[in-house]
Amino acid sequence: MTGFPENFLWGGATAANQCEGAWNEDGRGLANVDLAPTGSDRRAVLTGEQKMLAFDDEHYYPAKEGIDMYHRYKEDIRLFGEMGFKVYRMSIAWTRIFPKGDEEEPNEKGLQFYEDLFNECHRYGIEPLVTISHFDCPMHLVNTYGGWRSRKMIDFFEKYSRVLFERFKNLVKYWLTFNEINMILHAPFMGAGVYFEANDSREKIKYQAAHHELVASALVTKIAHEINPDFQMGCMLAGGDTYPMTCDPKDVWQAKLEDRNNYFFTDVHVRGYYPAYAVKELERKGLFPETQPEDFQLLKEYPVDFISFSYYSSRCASADPEISKLTDGNVLASLKNPYLEASEWGWQIDPLGFRITLNTLYDRYQKPLFVVENGLGAVDKPDENGYVEDNYRIAYLRSHIQAMKDAVTLDGVDLLGYTTWGPIDLVSAGTGEMSKRYGFIYVDRDDQGMGSLKRSKKKSFDWYKQVIATNGEVLN
Ligand code: BG6
Repeated sequence: MTGFPENFLWGGATAANQCEGAWNEDGRGLANVDLAPTGSDRRAVLTGEQKMLAFDDEHYYPAKEGIDMYHRYKEDIRLFGEMGFKVYRMSIAWTRIFPKGDEEEPNEKGLQFYEDLFNECHRYGIEPLVTISHFDCPMHLVNTYGGWRSRKMIDFFEKYSRVLFERFKNLVKYWLTFNEINMILHAPFMGAGVYFEANDSREKIKYQAAHHELVASALVTKIAHEINPDFQMGCMLAGGDTYPMTCDPKDVWQAKLEDRNNYFFTDVHVRGYYPAYAVKELERKGLFPETQPEDFQLLKEYPVDFISFSYYSSRCASADPEISKLTDGNVLASLKNPYLEASEWGWQIDPLGFRITLNTLYDRYQKPLFVVENGLGAVDKPDENGYVEDNYRIAYLRSHIQAMKDAVTLDGVDLLGYTTWGPIDLVSAGTGEMSKRYGFIYVDRDDQGMGSLKRSKKKSFDWYKQVIATNGEVLN
C-alpha cells in the first residue's frame, strides 16, 4: 500500500461539555463537567481533591456556554462538510438524555437534538462517531451514589446507552464507551464523578470505579451488538508511549510500569480479562476491586471491535527520584524529554512517538485502531476578519499525519481513521481556557467569556481540506 486506504475516515473531534453550552436548556440536568471552573482551583476539582458540587460566585465556569454549539451546530457542521469531513466525532451529554441519571423515561428534547444533529451530519456525507461518556456524569448520580464508586452506575449507564442505541440505530455506526478511560486514575472527578473525603483510600476507590466502567463498557458492547450487529464498538485511551529516561534497566523498568498503568485498560477492553501483572499488583497492594462472578464472563465475551486513542505526546520516566523536571501534558504529567520541543503549554511535540504508539498498540492487540484526537493547542492572533495564519498548527499536524502514514504504509498498522482534536476552537478540558486553541475554525470568545462567538476560517482550514481531498497524499 502506498497511501491511506480508500475509505479512510478523516475528520475532527469534539466533546459536548466543551462546546455545546446551553447547560440548562430543554431539560438538561447538571453534570460534573459543568462544575469545573477556570483558574487555579480547576485541577483540584478535576482530581476530586476539592469539592465543587454547585456553582459559586467566585468562579467562572466556561462549560455553561461553551462555544454555543447547541444553537450553532448547523453552521459548524456545514463548515466541517466544506472541509470534506468523512467523520465527526462528538459526544452526547448524558444529562440531556437523563437529566438526573436515574429517571424512568428519557428527555425527548435531548434525543431530538442529537437526532437532528446526526441528520445534519449525513446531509454532508459525514459519519458520526459518538462517545457515550466524554468526562460526563450527571451530578444527581454523583450526589446520590458517589458517581462510579457505586456499582449502581452500571445500570444507569446501561439504560442510557440502550436508549441511544435504539433511537440512533440507523444514524450512528461507530461508538466509543468512555473517553480516555485511563484518566480515571489521574482526574477521577472528571473521569468518573468521584471526589474524595479526607479518609478515603483513593487508589482503592479509583480501581473500583475503573472496574465498574470496564464492566459497563462490556455490557453495553453486548447490548449494542444485539440491537444492531453492524455497530462498531470501541474503547478510548489517552495514548502516548513512555520512554525510559536512559538505557539504565531501572529506567526501562520504570517506563514499562508507567505504560502498564495505561495499557491495563486496553488489555481488559480488548483481551477481556485482567492481565496477570495487574492482578498481582492490585492484590499485593490490597487494591483489587470488589467484583461479581458475572463480571469476568462479560469482559471475556464482549471485547471491543476497535481501539481508539488520543495522541498529543510521548512521555518519559526515570527510576531516579532526583530527576524531577516535570513538564505538562494532558493531565498526566511527564518528565521533560531533552530531545523534544514543547508547545506553549509545555506539551512535548513528538511525531515519531505517534508512529511508535500506533505500532505498540497494533503489535499488542492486532485489532483495528482509530486515532480520535491529535492536535496542537496554541495561542492564535487573528486579524480584523478573524483570519489566523496558523503555520505552527499546520506544521504539527503535517508531521503527525506523515508519521501516521508511515505506520500505515510502512509498518502495516490497520487504521480506520483520524480525527483531529478541536476542529473548531473550544473550551480546554485541562485548563478551561479558550485561548488554548486547536481549531481550523476560529471562534471569537476569550477566557472571560467575552466575544461575539463568530466563526471564521484559519489558514489551516484550506490546508486540511486539501489533505482530505487527496486522502493524505498532499501534506504541504
Ligand atoms: C483529551 C480530552 O484529554 O485532550 C479532550 O479527551 C481534551 O477532552 C484534549 O480537550 C486536549 O486537552 P486540553 O486540556 O488542551 O483541552
